[in-house]
Amino acid sequence: MEMDSILWQKDAKRWYEASRRRVSIRRYSGAPTGEQRNVLAALAKTLSLGGVRIVMLPVKARVFGHGLMGRSIKGAQGGAAFVLAKGTPDWCAGYAGEAFILECTALELGSCWLVGTFNHKRARLAADLRDGERLVAVTPVGVAKEGIPEPVSDDDRRRKTIPKLTGLSDKAFENLPEWQRNIILCLRSAPSAMNRQPWRFAPTRNGFLLHAKKPSLDTGIAMFHLEMAMAAHGKRGTWSEEKEKGSWVFSMNSE
Ligand SMILES: Cc1cc2nc3c(=O)[nH]c(=O)nc-3n(C[C@H](O)[C@H](O)[C@H](O)COP(=O)(O)O)c2cc1C
Repeated sequence: MEMDSILWQKDAKRWYEASRRRVSIRRYSGAPTGEQRNVLAALAKTLSLGGVRIVMLPVKARVFGHGLMGRSIKGAQGGAAFVLAKGTPDWCAGYAGEAFILECTALELGSCWLVGTFNHKRARLAADLRDGERLVAVTPVGVAKEGIPEPVSDDDRRRKTIPKLTGLSDKAFENLPEWQRNIILCLRSAPSAMNRQPWRFAPTRNGFLLHAKKPSLDTGIAMFHLEMAMAAHGKRGTWSEEKEKGSWVFSMNSE
């Protein structure tokens, strides 16, 4: 999947900044304004390519509010669903969907990837699934009851340590150029189901290696963080998959 280059030029920095503030929001106190909704609906349309469809969910669909105590979504008024055409791998929804999620943050709106804790039947109905399509995730979108945080410090993120995620010692990490450290921190901030962080990543001579246990929504989210953070640092490149190793290699274009 290729993100339109115009979109990258305009939005990579905005989404990169948003990624430093994004957290899962489960308490809401209002709906997006008409203008915010229009921006998101237009983006959902732009991102709906390569077998991915992002559908805005109306308040009346009553998709949210179901789940384990404390984990349920409260007060959400509408959101969006991530839908895949038959044969499209899950990671594609993670990749396109994370752009949508980060745009919510950039618009000062809360969001939360959900694969489990929502009303699946109502969501499928509201997304008006076409032949062969499947709904893989949803997100509420709305005013976060406690607001969107200022950039979350790396220490405050509940995440695996950098040595665990990258195989680099703390010292080796500190010795990396600043832009590479930024890419690693942006990857580390990526959300994942149950906060499992089912990936490993490390810089290579001319790019980055991302290793995932299996290609899932989470993989696509991490791929998006990597590519978006690279673009925000003025570095573009291409992906290749090493299927037998479960690895994705991002190779930078020569400058
Ligand atoms: C693919 C995916 C599925 C998720 N599904 C759920 C869910 O069903 N219910 C829920 O409460 N949170 C869900 N989450 C949110 C994660 O628990 C959350 O992203 C993770 O704990 C990291 O926290 P953060 O998003 O605040 O950084 C999901 C996240 C992802 C990426």
